[in-house]
Amino acid sequence: MLAAAVKVLATRRYPGPALDELDDVEVLALDALEAPREDVEGLIVANEPVPLELLPGLRIVANFGVGYDRIDVARCAERGVVVTNTPGVLDAATADLAFALILATRRQVVAGDRFVRSGRWSGSWSEGGLAEELSGSTLGIVGLGRIGSAVARRARGFDLRVLYTRRLRADSDLGEFRELDALLAESEIVSIHAPLRAETEGLIDARRLALLRDGSVLVNTARGEIVDERALVAELVSGRISAGLDVFAHEPEVPAELLELPNVVLTPHIGSATRQTREAMTRLVVDNVLAVERGEPPLTPVATLSPETL
Ligand code: DGY
Repeated sequence: MLAAAVKVLATRRYPGPALDELDDVEVLALDALEAPREDVEGLIVANEPVPLELLPGLRIVANFGVGYDRIDVARCAERGVVVTNTPGVLDAATADLAFALILATRRQVVAGDRFVRSGRWSGSWSEGGLAEELSGSTLGIVGLGRIGSAVARRARGFDLRVLYTRRLRADSDLGEFRELDALLAESEIVSIHAPLRAETEGLIDARRLALLRDGSVLVNTARGEIVDERALVAELVSGRISAGLDVFAHEPEVPAELLELPNVVLTPHIGSATRQTREAMTRLVVDNVLAVERGEPPLTPVATLSPETL
């Protein structure tokens, strides 16, 4: 017997063909949801708060993304609503973007691009300003989960020395473990790959930012809230450090001071934004919904994932 199609609300048209495999899907932004919808059993969101009171028949929240910090998982669990996410499929794309930001910041790629476009390049190549070498430098990875490990593997190709922190200390052949403060003080490049949760909100505060070495680079492709953004802006305005930032504390707002700084490379939360990865994310979202539709356990429920696997 065929399982009855689950009525699904998707907060936008998620990329790729997989969404079309759902028989009954309606695209509707959450702020357009004004009255209770008893018919909806599945909700597809991109890390958005779930209005449980408006969706009394909900069975699954399928999150398009690995991070689900804006979804109240405990409340969903109380209501018997399963929450799933998309671990694994976006590791490579996010690690690639972290490396793009590391390279762009360390080698002043964006500043160079602006310089050429401004028409001010008039002297010999041998007279320009100098950046710092990437090869042979020390990379500190905050959070050696799935994405952090993918960054560490890429670091091998650049002859980097890798240090890492992990919430649950465990040895890894990808680098050397350090406590967070020691990692910040020892690294020339620090890349953040921790999930946002109560323990990591504001983890890199003003005191810890001050531990960074002069001239070091901070890269964040995880969540803006993990860093004290005001304190980071102050460090960047001073010119003491540089940063490659894909995420911000109040997206899509970006602190105005950052916009003119030459020592910052900014991207609009595009860690997973490749066609292949975003389509794979939709595929996993849909597979989770279809599993629930068939009465089977979802593939990637968040509750069974260790925080270290982000
Ligand atoms: C996620 O998956 O949590 C990202 O922030 C979107 O790529």
